[in-house]
Amino acid sequence: MTAKEIRQSFLDFFKGKEHSIVPSAPVVPHGDPTLLFTNAGMNQFKDVFLGQGKRDFNRAADTQKCIRVSGKHNDLEEVGVDTYHHTFFEMLGNWSFGDYYKKEAIDWAWELLTEVWKLPTDRLYATVFESDDEALELWKQYLPESQIQRHGAKDNFWEMGETGPCGPCSEIHYDMTKDKSGAKLVNMDSPEVIEIWNLVFIQYNRKADGTLENLSATHVDTGMGFERICAVMQGKTSNYDTDVFMPILRNIEELSGKKYNPELTDKTGIAMRVIADHVRTLTFAIADGAIPGNEGRSYVLRRILRRGCRFARTLGFREPMMFKLVPTLVESMGEQFPEIMRQQTTVEKIIKGEEESFLQTLDRGIEKFEEMTTDLKDNTLDGADAFMLYDTFGFPLDLTELMAREAGYKVDIEGFNANMKEQKERSRAARKVTSQEAEIPEVSEKSTFIGYDTLEAEAKILWMSDNKVVLDKTPFYAESGGQMSDNGTLVIAANKYDVLDVKKVGDAIVHICDRDLELLIGGAALAKVDEKRRQAIKRNHSATHILHEALRTILGNHVQQAGSLVSPDYLRFDFNHFEKVTNEQLEQIELLANDKILEAHRVNIEEKSIEDAQKNDKIKMFFGDKYGSTVRVVTMDPSYSMELCGGTHVSNTAEIGLVKITSESSIAAGVRRLEAVTGKGVELYIAEQNAKMKDKDATIAELHHKIKQMEKEMSELKVQGMASLVPDMIANAELVGEIRVIAKEVEAEDMDQLRDLGEELRNSFAKQGIGLLARIDGDKVQLVCVVTDDLVKSHPAGKLVGAAAKALGGGGGGKPHMATAGGRDLTKLPELLASFAEMVKNR
Ligand code: SER
Repeated sequence: MTAKEIRQSFLDFFKGKEHSIVPSAPVVPHGDPTLLFTNAGMNQFKDVFLGQGKRDFNRAADTQKCIRVSGKHNDLEEVGVDTYHHTFFEMLGNWSFGDYYKKEAIDWAWELLTEVWKLPTDRLYATVFESDDEALELWKQYLPESQIQRHGAKDNFWEMGETGPCGPCSEIHYDMTKDKSGAKLVNMDSPEVIEIWNLVFIQYNRKADGTLENLSATHVDTGMGFERICAVMQGKTSNYDTDVFMPILRNIEELSGKKYNPELTDKTGIAMRVIADHVRTLTFAIADGAIPGNEGRSYVLRRILRRGCRFARTLGFREPMMFKLVPTLVESMGEQFPEIMRQQTTVEKIIKGEEESFLQTLDRGIEKFEEMTTDLKDNTLDGADAFMLYDTFGFPLDLTELMAREAGYKVDIEGFNANMKEQKERSRAARKVTSQEAEIPEVSEKSTFIGYDTLEAEAKILWMSDNKVVLDKTPFYAESGGQMSDNGTLVIAANKYDVLDVKKVGDAIVHICDRDLELLIGGAALAKVDEKRRQAIKRNHSATHILHEALRTILGNHVQQAGSLVSPDYLRFDFNHFEKVTNEQLEQIELLANDKILEAHRVNIEEKSIEDAQKNDKIKMFFGDKYGSTVRVVTMDPSYSMELCGGTHVSNTAEIGLVKITSESSIAAGVRRLEAVTGKGVELYIAEQNAKMKDKDATIAELHHKIKQMEKEMSELKVQGMASLVPDMIANAELVGEIRVIAKEVEAEDMDQLRDLGEELRNSFAKQGIGLLARIDGDKVQLVCVVTDDLVKSHPAGKLVGAAAKALGGGGGGKPHMATAGGRDLTKLPELLASFAEMVKNR
């Protein structure tokens, strides 16, 4: 069977057992801050197991995209050096939510493996948790006791993470040894006897304090390694030899010109396997919205990518190559997972960009590593050196460790960490601390924020010192989540103080005033927020949510907030994106955002439990943000934007008025920044632009005038320049009797110049002079003829120029001392000029 057929056959089998077939959840989990990546099929059902959520079905099956590179389940180090671990893999799974339990789970697993797929029963082993007699008895129906083993918690008690659903499990292992002697290799990390299916009997919740809590119902959670079952079914000893990996390996062979060697110790083979594995992880993670970067999930991806780059380097690649494998992967997996097809271009661009950037330092880093390891003490690379590789050459610690391991060295991890800590402290100290911030002492009082509903309140003073006051309740919003604090006034004992800043210190909200207060603990204060300023902040905050969604709609769902500032004057939004946002895209984003504003949606703000919020995929929340047990969900058009947010918002989107993006820029590799204004800010912006425009108009008029003047000056200069040629012309004139005759083409710019030049010539002849000057005007000729006063009777200029023009197929005339004409036939001009003296003679 092909991989595709195996996947389908699994799903069909469980469909036949009344399971709903559900889609894979994204590999970037939404709304579970305990997870960096989806690491098991059951993740998307965590709430059901814990009794906090419900689905329309109580049996389900799917194939789930999983990544195991961090936290409790991390297979990174095994990848490439063995045949059956991957950072990305598919997990086929079936689930019972409080429905069937151990018996059916075991019966059906057996039926599928041995009756549908016809795997030889003497190659299968079952393991059970050491105290699980029930599972052991169930297996005895199918397997001799020699093929059933009890194991401890390490292998047979499955847990999702540090906390969460868990329970005893029963695993099925497959024996690939020639002589079926694998019993002793079960759970021994042998490539010859591998776990293919894990049946977990979920009955507990592991709590943060480490204790187990009984769940109200028992559940089944099974997971089968898809790539492993493909290898078994296709009679291969390595997952990489199946049709899941072969197309990518072939592609790497073509690109590198090297042959894939399946030997586990062969360097080329390892490199190719690692690259084939890593490109899958990168592609699926990026397609689901993750982006390589410097922190958290993003840094995991960057580490994977840099590892891949370094292996590509060992295959001889000096240029980005991993991105070239994406089309092959899309071809083989895009039908089952259309998201990678949809995001293909994005994925390729991001991988290529990351490869390019690491390749700039990779070679020098490798050289440095070699220098550092020439004379190693205790075969251990110094922590400071490892840190230098990290800091200067971008080598993730695990890459340095890997290179060290390959060469037989260790890395002083503690030393590395100490260096890292020192650097963090240095940069913390270097960061500018505003004097006010530095001065705020620890305050143990607790204030309640009441400013969502009111802007004015009378409150009790709990604490004060210098210019700082803490009240029991306050309408003042303290700076948080990018939203700047409110300003306003406090009236205390008939004295009015301006509140310049508001900060949260522990549970206290500290108002920072313009001057020191008179000591008056126990008194009351009238707190009043500057309403106009608050309105402007609200408009900018609500517009930030609307723009965020517009960015995702227009640029793609990889867009994630990387930072934001909501001030009364403008908003700033930083987000992950790998290239400049084009003007057309900006226009579309603005258009969509303004549509949402003008559609006048009521802004709905609802408090929910974090668990409820996490269930809704549409609600934006930020990984790594600490949310309390109750969260605020801000919704503007339920089909458009829902976001967890503690900030203040308008009550209807129409209040925003309009949003105008004022700039788009890059602030770091892969991070873009938008700035925008709303409401009054747009008015101001337009006024500013108008003023600039008027300034520009005035400047343009001035420039126009200057240009005209300069043109005039230039023309005069040109005439002067040409005039300087006149004496020469006269000296070289042809003589017809006593008459000096000049016939010449000149470079005058227009008829005026030509005439001016003629005048100059006429004045320069002392007497007895006749001149014919010609200028070419496109495909025509212009002529001017001048005659000195003593010849006007015998040789009137009008007549001469008429005869000359005739020779060019044109005509003209004028006064006897100066006349002009035009001719059409350019080709005759040389002949005319040559014969003009003759013409004069013949008169
Ligand atoms: N959750 C179990 C595992 O990941 C079975 O699906 O192995």
